[in-house]
Amino acid sequence: MAFGWIDERRRARHRAGLVRTLRPRAPGSPLLDLAGNDYLGLSHHPEVVEGAARAARVWGGGATGSRLVTGTTELHTELERELAAFCGFEAALVFSSGYAANLAAVTALAPHGSLIVSDAGNHASLIDGCRLARGTTQVVAHADPEAVGKALRSHEGPAVAVSDTVFSVDGDAAPLAALAAVCREYGAGLIVDDAHGFGVLGEGGRGAPHAAGLAGAGDVVATLTLSKSLGSQGGAVLGPARVVDHLVDTARTFIFDTGLAPASVGAAFAALRLLRGEPERAARVRAVAGALHAGLTAAGLEAVRPDAAVVSVRAPSPERAVRWAAECRAAGLAVGCFRPPSVPDGVSRLRLTARADLSGEQIERAVRVIGETRP
Ligand SMILES: Cc1ncc(COP(=O)(O)O)c(C=O)c1O
Repeated sequence: MAFGWIDERRRARHRAGLVRTLRPRAPGSPLLDLAGNDYLGLSHHPEVVEGAARAARVWGGGATGSRLVTGTTELHTELERELAAFCGFEAALVFSSGYAANLAAVTALAPHGSLIVSDAGNHASLIDGCRLARGTTQVVAHADPEAVGKALRSHEGPAVAVSDTVFSVDGDAAPLAALAAVCREYGAGLIVDDAHGFGVLGEGGRGAPHAAGLAGAGDVVATLTLSKSLGSQGGAVLGPARVVDHLVDTARTFIFDTGLAPASVGAAFAALRLLRGEPERAARVRAVAGALHAGLTAAGLEAVRPDAAVVSVRAPSPERAVRWAAECRAAGLAVGCFRPPSVPDGVSRLRLTARADLSGEQIERAVRVIGETRP
């Protein structure tokens, strides 16, 4: 029977504790949310919601076409200008998601005959970019510029190194300055995914490349998502104008995808304005992450010191991670639960995300619930 094989796969995932469940959120949920990625607490900000509503009223419910046909409104280009200026890059291009932005950057910048050197801890969207690219991919040890140099040394022709700036599983930061230095030594480009750094790291949240002095460099391209710090939806690639022009001409996830919905553009635009006007939000989310880590460690839990907003706590097995997260939820706390295959090292974790709008009392409550429900 067609698709009959799926049942056995599902049973195998069940036995391994790897079945996934959708949990629709109710409006105004009483849960304390440490699972979402609304780092700056902007997704419900009245100006962000109004930005979405205004854009929908002016431009309609959808972009109506791909970016090169009817899907580019004046609002899209205005957002691109502001994103590039804020983060310190020459140009920016907005996509319908961060996932699409990553596929575009990697595939368009790694042509046939090129080498892609990819960190073993990279996000799935970068990995998929490598899989789709015509170049050859070499996966290297996590956060290891020396390994990147070794891979680049033995290749002739175009090459790029690809890395998250802040890794989504453990929340640790990549050694960006060292990566850029080694790429320069071998004339390679550097593509960094700043999904978890933008809005959190760097002066006023300008992102990890800005913090590392790499923003605007001719050999550095950054990608980001509008769905985390900006509380909206969509993604972007930032870099030299020649790279952005090349993406417009060649990136399939730009050319063959409907443009980002105007409401998402309007929300992102309003959130960016708020971030620009209230730079303390970035410092606050880092402080909240530090307080969560300090509390969890004091409670005897094995938490990774966060370099940005993601705080990861180790769990003994996939099944117990799932049970732990469920017990947190029953106690009023929503936390993320990462299990294989979403974790490169096979270690399951609870994954907490700090938010700039969490109070001291909420941080204490979160730490208490996680400690009391530990396996
Ligand atoms: C590191 C990283 N890159 C890219 C993405 C994809 O971004 P988007 O959700 O906008 O597609 C995510 C997660 O969503 C992420 O964590």
